[in-house]
Amino acid sequence: MEIWTASNQKGGVGKTTTVVSLAGVLAQAGKRVLMVDMDPHGSLSCYFGLDPDDELPSVYDLFERFSLKQPLAPKNLVHQSGFENLHLLPSTTALVTLEKRMGLKGGMGRVLKMAMNELRDDYDYVLVDTPPLLGVLLINALAASDKLLIPVQTEFLAMKGLERMMNTLRMLTQSLGQGVDYTVIPTMYDRRTHASTESLRLLRQQYHGSIWPAMIPIDTKFRDASKAGVPPPQFLSSSRGVRAYRSLVKYLVTHSAETSQQAV
Ligand SMILES: Nc1ncnc2c1ncn2[C@@H]1O[C@H](COP(=O)(O)OP(=O)(O)OP(=O)(O)O)[C@@H](O)[C@H]1O
Ligand SMILES: [Mg+2]
Repeated sequence: MEIWTASNQKGGVGKTTTVVSLAGVLAQAGKRVLMVDMDPHGSLSCYFGLDPDDELPSVYDLFERFSLKQPLAPKNLVHQSGFENLHLLPSTTALVTLEKRMGLKGGMGRVLKMAMNELRDDYDYVLVDTPPLLGVLLINALAASDKLLIPVQTEFLAMKGLERMMNTLRMLTQSLGQGVDYTVIPTMYDRRTHASTESLRLLRQQYHGSIWPAMIPIDTKFRDASKAGVPPPQFLSSSRGVRAYRSLVKYLVTHSAETSQQAV
């Protein structure tokens, strides 16, 4: 099982879109995929028609039952997505209270990691969506992840946001005592605008070696797919955006194989 987390403290950069698109591509390739929604806003859960205001079995139950010392089998919290090979562990609005109520005491930083360990034989890939803020949810996602994906919108303000994100990442990995392999993913690239071409040039210069060499183009089909509640690859397999996410999957899978060979 490989666990990939999409994260960036900046909002609206394509985290949820990246999770749904990569999950869709992997599921189409016959991989068993679990998507985990760690965002209290629940955009990923909404995408698949679940309402985070309902008291559904969700990620929240994992944390609550852990804090009560009555751990729950994560299998019981998994929902069908309606698409082949694609399952979802949803979020609920109650997740916002997690920080205040439970914090990071008594191993609360590793709840997701332990839960995913129990599902190790059931899935080939886990894709985690995170909220645009630093807290116990992001810490859990990082502690569980083999790879961190950092979508960055190709515009000038995004560069500042990314620096902040990298500082946070350094802080968190230090406190977790583990490094996390990360890949910067330029998103919403519009080659007709100077802002896109110039910020992509700067990103490549600054994050050389840690940035995916291609980019996700701006593509209105993502919005159409989300309106239809269908993962983009299942919605329109040949759209420009989906083709880009397919080549990102190829890159990440090859890159993971190289990293694990190095680690052996
Ligand atoms: N490559 C793209 N081209 C066009 N639209 C896109 C693209 N990627 C994402 N979008 C759209 O941009 C909006 C924001 O994307 P998304 O929800 O994935 O960002 P996010 O980082 O998860 O946001 P948040 O921080 O609020 O959770 C959505 O409406 C989505 O459909
Ligand atoms: Mg999101």
